[in-house]
Amino acid sequence: MAHEGTNRVFPEQGTAAEDLFSEMDAIAAGDQRWDDPKNLKASYWAGDDVVAVMHRAYARHIDDNAIYGASLFPSLVRYEAEVVAMALDMLEAPEGAAGGITTGGTESILMAVRTARDWARVHRPGATQPEIILPETAHPAFEKAAQVVGMTVVRMKQSPGWRADPAAMEAAISENTVMLVGSAPPYPYGIVDPIIEIAALARSHGLWMHVDGCIGGFLLPFLQDLGEPLAPFDFRVAGVDSISADLHKFGYSGRGASLLLLREGANEIHQRFSSDAWPSGTYSTLNFGGSRNGGAIASSWAVMRYLGRTGYRERVASIVATKRAIAEGLAADGRLTVLGRPEGANICIVSERLDMVAVAEGLDERGWLTGRLQRPPGLLLLITPRHAGIVDALLADLLAVADDVASGRRTAAGSQAVYVG
Ligand SMILES: Cc1ncc(COP(=O)(O)O)c(C=O)c1O
Repeated sequence: MAHEGTNRVFPEQGTAAEDLFSEMDAIAAGDQRWDDPKNLKASYWAGDDVVAVMHRAYARHIDDNAIYGASLFPSLVRYEAEVVAMALDMLEAPEGAAGGITTGGTESILMAVRTARDWARVHRPGATQPEIILPETAHPAFEKAAQVVGMTVVRMKQSPGWRADPAAMEAAISENTVMLVGSAPPYPYGIVDPIIEIAALARSHGLWMHVDGCIGGFLLPFLQDLGEPLAPFDFRVAGVDSISADLHKFGYSGRGASLLLLREGANEIHQRFSSDAWPSGTYSTLNFGGSRNGGAIASSWAVMRYLGRTGYRERVASIVATKRAIAEGLAADGRLTVLGRPEGANICIVSERLDMVAVAEGLDERGWLTGRLQRPPGLLLLITPRHAGIVDALLADLLAVADDVASGRRTAAGSQAVYVG
């Protein structure tokens, strides 16, 4: 998107580096700091030391392109193989499982959808217009992927108890259905879908089942270690064929890294694209993209090795404590409440009494950066280890804004939930 003041001319002459960087400082003056503790939208901060490791590993391989891994950068091949192996171990994959690093959750989902489509050509030949059945809360990346690969989406209309509704999903299964999806957890409510039930449906109807663990893939395994109640959501569940898990979210890598993992490595034939139609020989990639920045891959490897399971567990413990403190503070006041019992780090704050659009606008004015929920109206907070120290300040501002809204001093200007990239 062009902004006011955008330069529309490609200058004839170059600009001195120092001048450029001053100009960049000016251009970026209005940006938020990603690691601002008041940023509750998307700051996957795990500690200054972790960020330093991530930056250093990224910079170490920033010039290296994984598409030339086999010929030029065997280090990247090794990092990727080890990241995949560690993640398969974390998500309890059986012998024979496989996976690869994509550029983000959306690409992992695209490849899962494409793999399911081509798998279904073999295993569900009667599905002439292949369909995906999605819970109401699944990420729009599934619709984007379906559009790209020519599939149809059937999205459920309701989430009883704020989770996917397996009975409604079963009722929607048709001759054309090839894929079911559950999220662990979905973005809107942070409450893990009934993965066991959805996977059982997939098994009994002979369908591909994908678990979207983009947010939870690197959270839930450690939550479980801490003894929090959590039903199995990963490859322990028979019928789960693929899982997406984002390295650049709670894996704490640099941007541009996610995983798509397959229970059966043999299904990679449905994911991989190969061609020798052009004059330059065989071109073959597992992902949609071609070039991949080595920095994203190397930083994933470095952060996983730096933190180890213990490091991830400690960070999940911090997130759990922050979530609990927020929920307790709100419960003591009584006007605002956390929606359901979210296992995820993304929690929603709703109210039966207060106009939540007005509350959200009030928090915006106090410098908090929060996500919005449209149905039901609410705030969406993404809690990370960065937020361990902000609970008192957040609660004070939330309750002060609640006072303003309750007394009529503040009414909603009518802003909406939007995610525009
Ligand atoms: C549950 C879920 N799936 C998929 C995605 C898409 O991930 P990305 O933005 O990395 O493409 C997101 C992003 O927030 C998500 O929350």
